[in-house]
Amino acid sequence: MKSNEIRKTFLKFFSDNDHTVVSSSSLLPEKDPTLLFVNAGMVQFKNLFLDIEKRDYVRATTCQKCVRAGGKHNDLDNVGKTLRHHTFFEMLGNFSFGDYFKDDAIAYAWKLLKDVFRLDEDRMWITVYKDDDEAALIWKKVGIREDRIVRLGEKDNFWSMGDEGPCGPCSEILYDLGENVGCRQPACAVGCDCDRFLEIWNLVFMEFERSRDGQMTKLPRPSIDTGMGLERIACIMQGKLGNYETDLFSPVLRRLEDISRSVYGENEKTDTAMRVIADHVRGATFVINDGVLPSKEGRGYVLRRILRRALRYGKKIGIEKEFLYDLSGAVVDIMGDVYPDVRNNHPYIVRVIKGEEERFLETLNTGMRVYDEFVKEIKSKGGKAIPGDLIYKLYDTYGFPVDITAEMAAEDSLSMDTAGFEKSLEEQKERSRAGSRIKGEAWAEGHVAALRDDVRNDFVGYKTLEADGVILTMVRDEQVVEQLDEGEEGEVFFDCTPFYAESGGQVEDEGLVDGPSGKAVVINVIKVKQDVFAHKVKVTMGSLKRGDRVHLVVDKEKRKGVSRNHTATHLLHYALRTVLGEHVKQSGSLVEKDRLRFDFTHFQGLADEELHKTEDIVNEKIMESLNVTTEERQREDAIREGATALFEEKYGDTVRVLRIGDFSTELCGGTHVKNTGEIGSFSIVSEGSLAYGVRRIEAVTGKGAVRHKRKLDNIVKHISRLSNTEPDRVLERVEGIIGELNTKSNEIERLKEEIIAHRVEEAVKNAEEKNGAKVVTMYVPDAKADDLRKVTDIIRNRLKSCIAVVGTREETKGMVVAAVSKDLLSTYSAGKIIKKLAEQYGGKGGGGPQIAQGGIPGDKIKAALKSVADILSD
Ligand code: SER
Repeated sequence: MKSNEIRKTFLKFFSDNDHTVVSSSSLLPEKDPTLLFVNAGMVQFKNLFLDIEKRDYVRATTCQKCVRAGGKHNDLDNVGKTLRHHTFFEMLGNFSFGDYFKDDAIAYAWKLLKDVFRLDEDRMWITVYKDDDEAALIWKKVGIREDRIVRLGEKDNFWSMGDEGPCGPCSEILYDLGENVGCRQPACAVGCDCDRFLEIWNLVFMEFERSRDGQMTKLPRPSIDTGMGLERIACIMQGKLGNYETDLFSPVLRRLEDISRSVYGENEKTDTAMRVIADHVRGATFVINDGVLPSKEGRGYVLRRILRRALRYGKKIGIEKEFLYDLSGAVVDIMGDVYPDVRNNHPYIVRVIKGEEERFLETLNTGMRVYDEFVKEIKSKGGKAIPGDLIYKLYDTYGFPVDITAEMAAEDSLSMDTAGFEKSLEEQKERSRAGSRIKGEAWAEGHVAALRDDVRNDFVGYKTLEADGVILTMVRDEQVVEQLDEGEEGEVFFDCTPFYAESGGQVEDEGLVDGPSGKAVVINVIKVKQDVFAHKVKVTMGSLKRGDRVHLVVDKEKRKGVSRNHTATHLLHYALRTVLGEHVKQSGSLVEKDRLRFDFTHFQGLADEELHKTEDIVNEKIMESLNVTTEERQREDAIREGATALFEEKYGDTVRVLRIGDFSTELCGGTHVKNTGEIGSFSIVSEGSLAYGVRRIEAVTGKGAVRHKRKLDNIVKHISRLSNTEPDRVLERVEGIIGELNTKSNEIERLKEEIIAHRVEEAVKNAEEKNGAKVVTMYVPDAKADDLRKVTDIIRNRLKSCIAVVGTREETKGMVVAAVSKDLLSTYSAGKIIKKLAEQYGGKGGGGPQIAQGGIPGDKIKAALKSVADILSD
């Protein structure tokens, strides 16, 4: 069976058994700061296990994208070394939320493997948690031989998502790949770390929730979470010895063979490198596809590590140039039908990978040299470890992920001073106060309470801006309350609402609540979940009570402005892709009443010409007065047909597709104008860099554009009035004024020099003689330290043999510079002169024998200059 067929068969088997087929969620967990990446199928259902949230189904089945390259389940170090571990993989799963439990979970699993996938029973082994007699008994009942049921402890047979969250004992199904696979030791048995007994399916009997402090509490209802690695079942069903030889990987390896001119399967070292590369390019492709960019922390750092690790392995097999971006094409060929967004985003993915490859290859070579030099030195001194500060330097300056340094150290038989590295890293973090925690918010208490109450609202705001709704739940200070009184603020959940909740970059609606016993203003609307909106209100009169039927009215002006800007972001997205290329992808946006902000992926600043073209295209589409239409579609179908999906959005299975004319199709839940003509006009206000590879455009539309234009007009008018010129000649006039100013400043400079030369003459004339040496002192108004030095140069040039001391003051601060010509250095020192002046007048300073500088109070400067000759005779 091809992998595509395995996926389908699995999902169909469970859907035939009353499971709802749910699409994979993004790799980025929703509102869960405890996780870097989604690492199992159950993550998107976490709240259902915890009974915080309810859905229309109690059984589900998925094929979930997972990444295990950080956090509790981290397979990164095993990738390449084994034939079965991956950073990115797909997990097939079936779930019961308080519905069936162990009996059915085991029966379903066994039936699918035996009757549908037709696996060889003789090769199957089962593990159960050491105390789980019940599971062992059920397995026996379905027909497993007793000697094939192995009991293992916490490490193997107790599963939890992370350090906190739902968890429970589990039972694993393993497949014996045969004596010739793995460690080949006679003692090899179930539980061995090698590749022989391949764990294909894990059935978790979710019964507990673990809290952050390790406390275990029983879940309200026992549930089921199972996970089967698609790559592993494909390996077995396709009769291969490792995942890399399945149809999920082999085309990547073939392409890699072409690039590297190595052949897979001939040499263990090369094979390991090829596996690492094939795995990592696939992982990177999917992680980038879900909106992560390489960076120094969190998810971005994981991405950077896997890309750089793959590159280093590339170097090991003789690839010296960038190649991963090209190899990602082979991944897209395999996965593009199942994950059409990977295909749509491919031009963008290529740019991100290539950018990182270019940067890394630049630093890699320098970093390797630095490493080699240090290692030579360490070894020559008999050292056994790479010091922490070197690991840090390679990491910080040369961008070497620590695991790469560790691998190189292992090759050189050196250990790593990891503690020293951690210390340097901590120090750096202290300095920059930039933690590496995952940024992300958790669920607010009050929102969890609303989810528990199973409140849901019908959103009617696409069609109407006024509606009646019943108050289902109210929250104040994170607590559910029955009533909100005049002057109080709180969050209200209605059964029906015309208010748009902030999401997808579009700001929330504002408006009014009119109830039987009071009124309130809606200040903010937060989307807790699909169809669960928290309306933040302030009661302005009387009170609002749970159960009240109220009239809800959206502020039309704000909604209209926001809708203009929202439709304009879609036009802008289209225009940028037309002008700059297909790699442009929206990476964020802010859609407000008066303006819009649009963040997108692109690797250099836009030229004026590109900005103008973009602006023109948007305005043309506005002038064409095109209809904007929406329709509901199945998510995968819409994406397959080319609709653009955004990173920042969490889409349900049914999506709203927004079309403008025949050129723009995006998945979008926002509010829009009905016709592009309503936007009026569009102007770009600014363009700049936001982060590496991400640019930001700010623009205005409609009334905002009129205001913007008026503001600029006023500026021009004002300048023209000030410069006494007609507005259309103001540019020439201002250029003329600037020219004049330049000529005048040059003239001033020249005059200043003349005055100084004149003063120097005066000062030279008044010079005193001390033991045959001429002592020239001079006060220079409005001078900087550099000017003073120049004046001493002029004096020395003029007299050849002399001592020159010049000073200036700026308010309370005075400054003196002393210089001594070379021929007098045996008797005098500029440094000493300054020191003496400083001592006498309360200041400080110093310098060399030829030139020195000091600061003394401003009001003492003139007296100090007068006393120089006396000081010299001391
Ligand atoms: N959550 C379990 C695992 O990841 C089963 O899906 O193994």
